[in-house]
Amino acid sequence: MVQDSYHEPVLVADIVTLLVRKPGIYVDGTLGGGGHSLAMLQALFKAGFLQGSLLIGIDQDDAALREARRKLQDYDDSVVLVKGNFLDIEGIIKKVCSEEGLEPKVTGILLDLGVSSYQIDTAERGFSYIKEGPLDMRMDSNAAVTAADIVNTYDERELARLFYRYGEEPRSRSIARAIYAYREKNGTISGTQELAGIIRAHAHGGEKVIKTLSRVFQALRIEVNGELDVLREALYDGIDCLEEHGRMAVISYHSLEDRIVKTVFAEKARSDWGPKGVALREPLAWGTVALLTRKPLIASREEIDLNSRARSAKLRVIEKIHEGGCREG
Ligand SMILES: C[S@@+](CC[C@H](N)C(=O)[O-])C[C@H]1O[C@@H](n2cnc3c(N)ncnc32)[C@H](O)[C@@H]1O
Repeated sequence: MVQDSYHEPVLVADIVTLLVRKPGIYVDGTLGGGGHSLAMLQALFKAGFLQGSLLIGIDQDDAALREARRKLQDYDDSVVLVKGNFLDIEGIIKKVCSEEGLEPKVTGILLDLGVSSYQIDTAERGFSYIKEGPLDMRMDSNAAVTAADIVNTYDERELARLFYRYGEEPRSRSIARAIYAYREKNGTISGTQELAGIIRAHAHGGEKVIKTLSRVFQALRIEVNGELDVLREALYDGIDCLEEHGRMAVISYHSLEDRIVKTVFAEKARSDWGPKGVALREPLAWGTVALLTRKPLIASREEIDLNSRARSAKLRVIEKIHEGGCREG
């Protein structure tokens, strides 16, 4: 197997089998290096479904779009790539479909959440607690707020709350205190290694430091990119845009993301039987999706051995059971 140096996509066979079933509009809301998109396009081609299909690829990172454009060049006629946030998934789908003269009814949506290996490995992007770089962490380089802004302007309580909420870090308060004290004494914190050094100095040695570092960096990354705020909205809007029997697949990499996906999917699958004690013949409202994965799918041992990133991946998939398509207006 040839490894992808930009980003090795996870659970590719499951994504292709579960999403690609007929010609239609497919949306990859987290295009990255285009690995999943390429696999979906190849599957569409093999099945004779490419004619009549369109893949809309969205990413907020210019480097990702460049890489994906290169990787998907053989499928140019069937692909539209858009720089944007998947928070605007509905608007992007409507705009592209109107330009292409298509009804905005989507057959398959993929969200493969978080950051790519390329983003983490590129020191200047500031995502890694191992490499020296500026405290940036923006996926969209035009976004206003960087990790440095947060580390240097949030007060001690705000930092503690952030590390607890988005990093689930048990020592959030003492780490926030250490950062605050360092700032008071030394001024601005500007580099990833400067921040990592403060955390190292205040955590106990060994494995625990690595976990703390990764939780604090995760919390900052989520805050900088508003990752959890946009996810919930994108799930609702994406589900709306699915055609009847259209499917949405979401791969998450930590419990905060997975909890949101699980909750939104369960909520959309549930029918509303009104208040307890009232016997209704049929619900006030039927659920609009079916859960295709009651438990999330995870990677095999073999895949994890080849790609350690697959270790934490959880895939959940739903199918729309109502008539659908993006809302008008
Ligand atoms: C895990 S990578 C996706 C990798 C991709 N599936 C592949 O096969 O290469 C996640 C990508 O989603 C992008 N991303 C994350 N959140 C986003 C958002 N809210 N809107 C648009 N792109 C986002 C990141 O910039 C990154 O390139």
